Amino acid sequence: PCRIVVLISGRGSNMQTIVNTVREAGLSARVCAVIANKADAAGLQWAHNNGIATQVVAHRDYATRDDFDAALAEAVEAHAPQYVLLAGFMRVLTPGFVERFNGRLINIHPSLLPAFPGLHTHQQALATGVQWHGCTVHFVTPVLDHGPIIAQGMVPVLAGDTPDDLAARLLQVEHRIYADVVRWLAEGRVTLDSMQRVLVRGVDSRAFVL
Ligand code: GAR
Repeated sequence: PCRIVVLISGRGSNMQTIVNTVREAGLSARVCAVIANKADAAGLQWAHNNGIATQVVAHRDYATRDDFDAALAEAVEAHAPQYVLLAGFMRVLTPGFVERFNGRLINIHPSLLPAFPGLHTHQQALATGVQWHGCTVHFVTPVLDHGPIIAQGMVPVLAGDTPDDLAARLLQVEHRIYADVVRWLAEGRVTLDSMQRVLVRGVDSRAFVL
């Protein structure tokens, strides 16, 4: 089976979607572990209750980013995953970590990249006046929020939206696209071409609209 490790920092709703997708769809895949950089990440409890191995590698316990990333890499490698899925993981990973998991490390970011990398994406979208907001599942490269795009989901911005309104609307399409991406990965359909663009065999559209 396709071995998957999920990294989280908080609530873990995308992680729940990943776990549920792997289980419900009867795929040849397994979430081997959920690892968090904070002991109080709420998603850890859910994962534990659902029979998934959990682990904490607390960034606060390490003096430098390199030390933290080395410990995290070791914890991840222990599960020999084919894919490492970031699901609301809020630490920037060092180029060393990213290169070690090159082609196997995937993130979901709450904007239509390349618009609005970084934090506070919903505020950025509202401040800019865009009428469509979205999310992106992409391979992680050393440049933050920048790698080859696997899928994107879009939601309308509505009059009077607060950042929280927009985040809640977007979260539904986040779950939708991460679930499909997990299926494609588990089925071995995702590759990169010579230009580092994503190909997904047998899939016509990787665009989702809520
Ligand atoms: C999600 O909206 C995800 O896209 C975002 O954090 C939230 C986590 O929610 N990720 C980032 O901002 C990455 N920089 P969740 O813990 O319920 O999945």
